[in-house]
Amino acid sequence: MPKIAVLTSGGDAPGMNAAVRAVVRRAISLGYGICGIRRGFSGLLGDQPFVEMEMGSVADIIHRGGTFLLTARAPDMFEQGCQDQAAARLKDEGIEGLVVIGGDGSFKGAMTLEQRGIKTACVPGTIDNDINGTDQTIGFDTAVNTILSAVNNLRDTATSHERIFLLEVMGRNNGFLALAAGLAAGAESILVPEIDYDIEDICARLLRGIERQKTHSIIVVAEGAGDIYDLNREICARLDTDSRVTVLGHIQRGGSPSAVDRLLGSRMGAMAVDLINEGKSGHFTALRGKDLEAVPLTASFTDPRPFPEDLYRLAMVLAR
Ligand code: F6P
Repeated sequence: MPKIAVLTSGGDAPGMNAAVRAVVRRAISLGYGICGIRRGFSGLLGDQPFVEMEMGSVADIIHRGGTFLLTARAPDMFEQGCQDQAAARLKDEGIEGLVVIGGDGSFKGAMTLEQRGIKTACVPGTIDNDINGTDQTIGFDTAVNTILSAVNNLRDTATSHERIFLLEVMGRNNGFLALAAGLAAGAESILVPEIDYDIEDICARLLRGIERQKTHSIIVVAEGAGDIYDLNREICARLDTDSRVTVLGHIQRGGSPSAVDRLLGSRMGAMAVDLINEGKSGHFTALRGKDLEAVPLTASFTDPRPFPEDLYRLAMVLAR
């Protein structure tokens, strides 16, 4: 029986479990043996046995956040020796196809195995939504909703104290998560690494709000946009106010996946197996509009994902 393996890699994202479930069940339905590799590429480079999977192995996980296969960051995969070792292990275990669920760093790791004769298919899973070539990654929608729920809580206390709050959200070097969450939350300002900010403008917005008798203000700050504590000190000094900082941290990466992420994970996981089955190696599953398409892995790292400046401008207009 031909065999496929699946692993999750990099930062976990809600919906990864739905994707693993789909990989396992689609593979079995097509007559493949399927095994899980625990702890991402680190697990592949170690000597822990692969886990043989059956239909029931992925029962009761679709609603859980994180990844039941465990994950890790594996800088070793940037070394040629480790890439050779990983490919050799897959061949020794009789694995002919590998599904990798993760971000663009994980895609690079998968590409090195593809170049060594392993059929690979990738599924974009990261809350950052920063993979070029797909409209959306698994985990993004849940993370946006988690941030919105945090903003709802902040608004209660912010209104009660008539305070300004600065909320830091994740996204590594990108502002996709901050923009979506900030726009959906109706934040007064959104700071992202892609767009230079002007402290005068931020303070002018806050003052306009105060003059209109707004009881509070929320500023969403992407973690890559600069030091939120410095920014807060500046705002406090300029407006003679006592604003507060909340760093949401890893809370925004956990939680039960939204319907959107479960659907995306299920569709993309199944498609990844189909790609391997059709012999279409070296691609990732991408959402384009409502449809899924196979996009070459190279597209995800040759160019950065374009930042939607029009959406940013809209957010700024609506926040006036
Ligand atoms: O890539 C996902 C992500 O959550 C980023 O938003 C964040 O910068 C990073 O991972 C945090 O990584 P770690 O969990 O290793 O601290």
